[in-house]
This record gives sequence, structure tokens and C-alpha cells, in this order.
Amino acid sequence: MANVDVMDRVVNLCKRRGFVFPSSEIYGGFRSTWDYGPLGVLLKRNVKDAWWRSMVQLRGDIVGLDAAILMAPKVWEASGHLATFSDPLVDCRNCKERFRADDLPESGACPNCGAKSSFTEARQFNLMFKTHVGPVEDEASVAYLRPETAQGIFVNFANVQTTTRKRPPFGIAQIGKSFRNEITPHNFIFRTREFEQMEMEYFVPPEEAQQWYEHWCRERLAWFVDLGVPEDQLRLRPHEPEELSHYSAGTSDIEFLFPWGWGELEGIANRSDYDLTRHAEVSGEDLSYYDQDADRRYIPHVIEPAVGADRATLTFLLAAYREEEVRGEKRTVLALDPRLAPIKAAVLPLSRNEKLVPVAEEVAASLRPHLVIDVDSAGSIGRRYRRQDEIGTPICVTIDFDTLDDRAVTIRERDSMAQERVALDKLLTTLRERLPA
Ligand code: GAP
Repeated sequence: MANVDVMDRVVNLCKRRGFVFPSSEIYGGFRSTWDYGPLGVLLKRNVKDAWWRSMVQLRGDIVGLDAAILMAPKVWEASGHLATFSDPLVDCRNCKERFRADDLPESGACPNCGAKSSFTEARQFNLMFKTHVGPVEDEASVAYLRPETAQGIFVNFANVQTTTRKRPPFGIAQIGKSFRNEITPHNFIFRTREFEQMEMEYFVPPEEAQQWYEHWCRERLAWFVDLGVPEDQLRLRPHEPEELSHYSAGTSDIEFLFPWGWGELEGIANRSDYDLTRHAEVSGEDLSYYDQDADRRYIPHVIEPAVGADRATLTFLLAAYREEEVRGEKRTVLALDPRLAPIKAAVLPLSRNEKLVPVAEEVAASLRPHLVIDVDSAGSIGRRYRRQDEIGTPICVTIDFDTLDDRAVTIRERDSMAQERVALDKLLTTLRERLPA
């Protein structure tokens, strides 16, 4: 299957099965924003939960935060976003379309109308969304939607450090919405103007920065592999000096082989002491750390793994999508890791028979407190298996006429399609064994 087809098919599947819809679709859409449907909201939540589990729950050195989206405008002055968070923008004089100057093809032709040498001079375009706080729309009421969650962490460094009594190295993790007025949102949920980020700022003694930078590059790559992204579709690419952000002393991108080529999935940056130093300067607050054991005071350096929840969700969808032939028929499978699968098990009565449906409902009700369960009784059993394969459900539980006598069910595994008989009173334990947290 050609790569472009994979993208089209995944976008189509997302729409058809209720993972992702174009935003404001009944009004013709809003081009750069997307809405998550019933299955998509479960999938993205599982991605965020898997991140939180590995970054916070399973570690003793990282704590969580949920900072506000609207922050004092001084934050963006201190962070450098007001001065430098911009992309070079050009217009095509012929068709009037706008492009990022650094995204243009080498041929120099306009990607929209094909005109040659038609671009205006590049000018800097700040990507932050501006709004006004309160009833008066003047310069004094200007505020910004945050373009990254990270600054909410930096301005709370002292609050978190003193309340938790954590000592560097320690981290603060946050998941939340960010907004960027991207010039060219594209590729479905890859680049949008409203998106969710999963960011962690790891505060370390200055001399340990390089070692922790390397540590987080390894850890984050391993996280994607553990959740099923093939290793040969991932790579770590260090930034060239001219690519580095204004705050960075070194950045590597984890790149995924998207259908259109290698693209950034996650950035791991050594932000040095830039952020805490700048916030200390602009706010006048002391953001240094006093190490009692060593009797020294220093500004911690920061290592930041930062990934988009939407971009990670797209990556897991693309990596999981397969089409195969089974007994002469096409089978579409989302081979998602069970931890990410939106529905963990589907309970399927063999037919809509009046004796089977109530048993299926009863079994589903007994499982629901523990797992996300679907019940489907419409259509042939073969077709229902295919419907569950296509949305990534790892296990189907079939209730048949024997169930009424032997109180056992057939469980069918998504990837191997292997079937096995399991006693009803062992069903939950069996599912739990096959569906790790
Ligand atoms: N705090 C650092 C920071 O925000 P970034 O490389 O600009 O760094 C981090 O963003 C991650 O956020 C990216 O690797 C990507 O996964 C995601 N991201 C950034 N811009 C995005 C957009 N417009 N749409 C979707 N995801 C985006």
C-alpha cells in the first residue's frame, strides 16, 4: 500500500468510526482544528494516561501540575516568546496564498499555483494567539493563549519545590492545551492551531545537564517502542546549531516515519538555566535552589521532553494500521497496544436471540466496572469481529447457545484471531491477564 494511501485510509477510518471529526463540520469545517469522537477521546485519553503513568506514577522524582492557559503577559516577555516565537511568512503574489518560508519546495515554485519567483520578502509572524482580558479591549488588557505548557511549570518552580521539598534532580509534568496560530496547519492532527501537549521539565544541577539530556532521549524513545511503534520507524535527530530554539543548549527530535517522510514527533531539549534565570530577572523573585548538603546555591538547569498528545495519537494510529487478507477477504486491523485500545473487550451475542442478548448484557455489566466494554449484536458474527478489529479491540467475548448450559464463553484474540473457551467465573481474571495496565 502506498504511503499516501495509508494516511487517507487512517483519516477515513477515523471519520467513519468516530475517532476524529473535522471541527465545526456542519459549517464547512474550520480547517485547522479537529474534534475527537467517542473512540478518539478514549484513545487520546489512553495515550495521555500511558504518558502520565510512565512519567509520574512509576517514578518517585516527578510530580504533576495543571497550570492556567491564560497567564500574566509578563511570562511571555520573560520567556522570549513575544520577541522570538515567530515563523518567517511569505505570500504568493500570484494566488495570494501564505506559506512558511522554511517550508517552501527547493524548486522555488508556489505549492498552490505553481508560479515561479512569485513570493514576497519573508516577514516574521508571531504565532501566539492574542486576546483581551476583561471588558476593555486596549493595550493594557492584552493576554495570550499559551503556546506551550512549559512556562506554567517554570513560573511554579518555587511553589512546587517548596511544597514537595523535592531536590534536584526532580521533574514537574503537565498535560494541557496549547495554541499556536500556525501559518500552515496540515496533515490531519499532525499540525493544528489548538492541540494538547505532554511536557515535563526536569530540574538538575548544572553539571548533570548533559547526562540527564541523554537519559531522557533514551527513555522517551523507549516509551514509543514499548507502546508498539516499530523501532525502524523511529529515529533520534540532533538539531543543527541554526535550528536551535532561543532557549536551547541542545535539542534532539524523536522523529517518526510519517507517510510523507520523517517528521518531528517529540522534542527533547536542554534548556540550560535560561527559563528560571529569565523569570527571576523579570519577576524579581529568587528562583535559585540552595543545596544544603553541598552548601551551594544555583539556578537549576532544565531538560525538557515535550510531545503533542495529538501527534502521538496520530503516530500510534499510523503504526497500528494494517490491511491483510484472511480467507480471501480483506481484514483491516488497528493493532494498537492493548493499553491504548479504546475498547478493551467487546461482548458479542452469537445472534440477536432473546436468550443470548440478556446474558451478553449481564456479562458486559459485570465487566464494566473494570474495563471499557462494548456490546454489539448487529449483523453476522464475522462482520462484528471485523468491526472490532478495525477499531483495535484486543479481545472479543462471544456468548453462544452452549453458554446457557456450560456458563463458558469463547474469547477471540484480535491479532492472531485464536479462539479459546473460558469459564464465565474466570473471565475477568483472564481478561486482566491479557490486558495489562
Ligand atoms: N516546550 C517546548 C515546545 O513546545 P515544540 O517542539 O514547539 O517544543 C513540542 O513542541 C511538541 O508539541 C512537538 O514535538 C509536537 O509533538 C507538539 N506540537 C507542536 N506544535 C504543534 C502543532 N501545531 N500541532 C500539534 N502538535 C504540535
